[in-house]
Amino acid sequence: MSVWAVLVAAGRGERLGEDRPKAFVRLGDLPLLAEPLRRLDESGWIDQIVLVAPPEWEEPAILLAEEIGASKVSACVPGGETRTESVRAGVAEVPEDAAVIVVHDAARPLVSEEVILRVIAALGEGFDGAVPGLPLTDTVKRLREGVVVETVPRDELVTVQTPQAFVAPVLRAALTALRVESTQSPTDCASIVEANGGRIKVVDGDEKLLKVTNRADLERVASWLVSDTSSS
Ligand code: C5P
Repeated sequence: MSVWAVLVAAGRGERLGEDRPKAFVRLGDLPLLAEPLRRLDESGWIDQIVLVAPPEWEEPAILLAEEIGASKVSACVPGGETRTESVRAGVAEVPEDAAVIVVHDAARPLVSEEVILRVIAALGEGFDGAVPGLPLTDTVKRLREGVVVETVPRDELVTVQTPQAFVAPVLRAALTALRVESTQSPTDCASIVEANGGRIKVVDGDEKLLKVTNRADLERVASWLVSDTSSS
């Protein structure tokens, strides 16, 4: 059974306020992309990786993969305007005979072997896909024009992260079915598979899979990285 990872790193990351895409902002001594790429490359569950780079940053991405000795990168392609278009570009490079596709956001650098195993293992239970989720601690309300219309029961909700694992043909079919992008572009791959009738399991997520959006997130991930490195 072959497991392919699609690492999407083509976001602009404008909220970080730097002159370069988010994947190339420094995290420790290297561009942010180095950390999730190294972790996927070292994973015992991942066979090959497709890297989706910001357009015109494919070459620096390939050089970075070489610099860190990532040997599983089989293709590096430019991403699209939306996350979904970037996933589509990455999945197009995965061979037809792949069994499983694991999609991961480069903006979540601290992906662990445990969470990769959890999402892949759920596919063995007959699910079409699996995602890591965290329970909510705040109260959640639905608004219309700034006015509360409903308080949503919190115990029915999770916030969802990546890596997200899918039965490869199921993800491909869902991407093909999603021809017309709705006004609200999907923010993860599971929602695309759900919309095509797929059954998705939620497994335990990890707080350290925080998505780097702003400078405070970057500093938080950097401090976790230092404590991870010093404890190993
Ligand atoms: O934009 P957001 O932070 O939600 O992006 C999540 C992940 O998707 C990031 O790793 C980002 O690089 C990637 N992405 C992409 N192509 C886009 C937009 C986002 O690969 N057009």
